[in-house]
Order: sequence, then structure tokens, then C-alpha cells
Amino acid sequence: MDMLLIRGGNLVDPVAETVKCVDLLIEGGKIAGISPPGAYREEPPGMGIIEASGMLVVPGLVDMHVHFREPGEEHKETVATGARSAVAGGYTAVACMPNTRPVNDCGSVTRFILDQAQRAGLARVHPIAAITRGQRGKTLTDFSELKDAGAVGLSDDGFPVANSGLMRRALEQAAVHGLKVISHCEDKVLSGKGVMNEGEVSARIGLEGIPAASEEIVVYREIALSRLTGAPVHIAHVSTSGSVSLIRRAKEEGLPVTAETAPHYFTLDHGIVQGLNPVFKVNPPLRTRRDMEAIKEGLSEGVIDVIATDHAPHGSREKQVPFEQAAFGMIGLETALPLTLALVREGVLSLAKAVKKLSFSPARILGLSGGRLVQGGEADLALIDPGEQYLFEEDQILSKSKNSPFIGQRLKGRNNLTMVGGKIVWRR
Ligand code: DOR
Ligand code: ZN
Repeated sequence: MDMLLIRGGNLVDPVAETVKCVDLLIEGGKIAGISPPGAYREEPPGMGIIEASGMLVVPGLVDMHVHFREPGEEHKETVATGARSAVAGGYTAVACMPNTRPVNDCGSVTRFILDQAQRAGLARVHPIAAITRGQRGKTLTDFSELKDAGAVGLSDDGFPVANSGLMRRALEQAAVHGLKVISHCEDKVLSGKGVMNEGEVSARIGLEGIPAASEEIVVYREIALSRLTGAPVHIAHVSTSGSVSLIRRAKEEGLPVTAETAPHYFTLDHGIVQGLNPVFKVNPPLRTRRDMEAIKEGLSEGVIDVIATDHAPHGSREKQVPFEQAAFGMIGLETALPLTLALVREGVLSLAKAVKKLSFSPARILGLSGGRLVQGGEADLALIDPGEQYLFEEDQILSKSKNSPFIGQRLKGRNNLTMVGGKIVWRR
């Protein structure tokens, strides 16, 4: 069926910052028309109708930070299972980090990921390639080859590029190729053997800590390098109040610095680690209440541009072990939307701004189209019931890994349908 009408939904426009009741006509995979409700009364025979009254029609969400584990650790997640988890969560596009086995540091791995995504036919999957070969921090990868193969950004996520001279060259060359560098900000020496936030809780329970300074030192370095080179830089998974302050000042100065956080950093704090459940072990670690509040302020003021998930699937072999030995990371694609809508109810973000941080802003930072529903544009969208409450249970999780800290929680706001290029790829 080529023509489809989504009738009477509330269209969220993250750029105009409006929410309007409309009929949306989709034809040939594109948005053919956006009109006041009732405009398309003469329904041509064979036109599909989706009743959307009471629902939000949002541009398909774009997650600029996920870890799919293919190639190499397909038992945790494949491109196909990750893409399925994405579309269930309302995402139509994701950018996957290069810390696979082998690392995505050459054109052949980038092309392999794109082929797997094509085969799955669910979300659009955009590979982010490594900054350095093998993410070892020694030699830059071939940015031109990676760009030609289809990489949309560069990151050694999981590691910083510890050598500042090398990072300077990476920023300069990436800018020439129009590739955004996404920095995992961490001083690994300062993090040491830390497994959680360094503070009152780590001291009480006797676990090694990762200080806020471990992140902030490198955030400051990236800002200084952006000032030095004039090149843009994107700060991944901001977790501390100090990082928010540094990025705020960089933006006031007019530097091309952008930043993301993830829902766990504005939803959970380090107190929850007391129970020693490895599901709460993540890097950067869950921080203090004060940090959580600063992250929300940063989102509200526009200091933090993007909400990404850092979806990091791990199996029971990595997670059903003592806290100290467990792997860092939690899945997030199927919970980011309701957790972000909670910020809207709290008054931290307007609905349009929340949607912008989940779609338009990450798309623009990576130079992708989409993130806004406009006439003639791709029909990549999600239909969300903002009022639906449900218990998030392990057996509903579509990701191959179940390491979500939100299992057993009541969530509010649920994706009901996801469309990519006019094709329904997921429906509840
Ligand atoms: O918690 C994390 N998990 N942080 C990272 O930087 C990497 C990620 C992973 O790949 O599991
Ligand atoms: Zn990271």
C-alpha cells in the first residue's frame, strides 16, 4: 500500500517548537502532505489509515551513541537485534560506536556493518569509526577511507585519545573531512581501578572510585583543543556538574563544542550502587544528586544538546559476577523515551525541546538529514502514547541483552509504531 494517512495525531516540530494536531499523508516513503485534521476527506481506495488521535507524532528518534556488538560479540547484540531494540524504542536511526571485535577502524568493517543493517531493514544504522587504529591511541585511522565507506563520525569511545598532540591532529583532519569527533572524556590513569563514582558512597562501601575530575580534565582539554584548532568537538556522555560548567563556558565563548548525556545520568545517582548490583555499573559512573541536578540544568539551558543512550549490551557472563569484576554498561534504547518524557512532566524540558534532543540535534551534529517531519522529507517517525503507563519487564526487552537498570519500574509514555522511509518497521 503506497499511500498512508496518519489521522489526527499531535505533530511535534522540534525546530518551530510547536505541537499541532494534523493529518499526515505519506506517499512513496515521503511525507506528501501535512494538513489540518479532516483535510483529506476523499480517501482514495486502497489508502491505509492509521488513527492517531491522542498520540504524539514525532520525528523518528536518532541515537548518536549505541554499542552494537557486531562484529565479534554477536551473543550480546547484533546489528539486527540492536536495530530491532531501536525501532521498538521509537528510534529510526542510530550511530554505532567502533569498539567491536575487530574495531571499526577500516573501510571493510564500516561496510560490513552497513551491509548487516541493510539486511535487517529496520533502523538506519550509521557507523562511527575509530579515531586511532585498534583504538590503541597511537596512529590515526584513514579518515578519508572511512568517510568514503560510510562512517558518519569518529570516536575511540571507551577510551580517550590520551596523547593531546594526536588528538589535535585528529580534530584538524576530521574537520577537513567533515567528520565530527566524539570524545569519551576520561583520564584513565586517574580512574585507575575505579568501579563507581568516587565520593561518600564509594568510601562507605569500600569500592575504588572514579573521580569527577577524571572526566572534567579531558573535557577541559577537548575545549582547549577546539579553541586551538577551531575544529568542532562533541563530548560524549556528560556525567558531572563540573563538565556542564566547562561546556557552558565554552559555548558562551562561541566554541563549536556540543555535548550529550544519557538518561541514566539524570535518573539515577550513585546511592543505588550500595546494593552492589552490577546492572548499575556504567562508565562514566552514576554520580551524585548534585551532578544529576546540574545535568538537568544543562539540558534545560541548552548546554547539553543531545540525549543519547550509550546502549551497551552485556550478557550474564559479564554482569552476573561480583560488582568489581563486572563489565561497564547498560542497555537503553527501549527506555530513553519514557525517561525523557519524565523530564517533560517535571518541567525541565518542553515536549518540543525533549524531542529535539532525541532527534533533530543529534542528526544535525552528525550531518544527517531527518530529525524533523517536513513535506517532501523522509517518512521516518514514531507514534507515541504519552499517557500510557506500563511495567517494564525483562521479557519485553527486544535487545539480545537484558542489562537494564529499569526492569521492574513503572514507566510512562510508550512508542506504538515506528516507520522508516514510509515502511512500518515496528508496531505494538
Ligand atoms: O559503560 C560503558 N560501556 N562505557 C563505555 O565507554 C563503553 C561501553 C561498552 O562498550 O560497554
Ligand atoms: Zn564512552
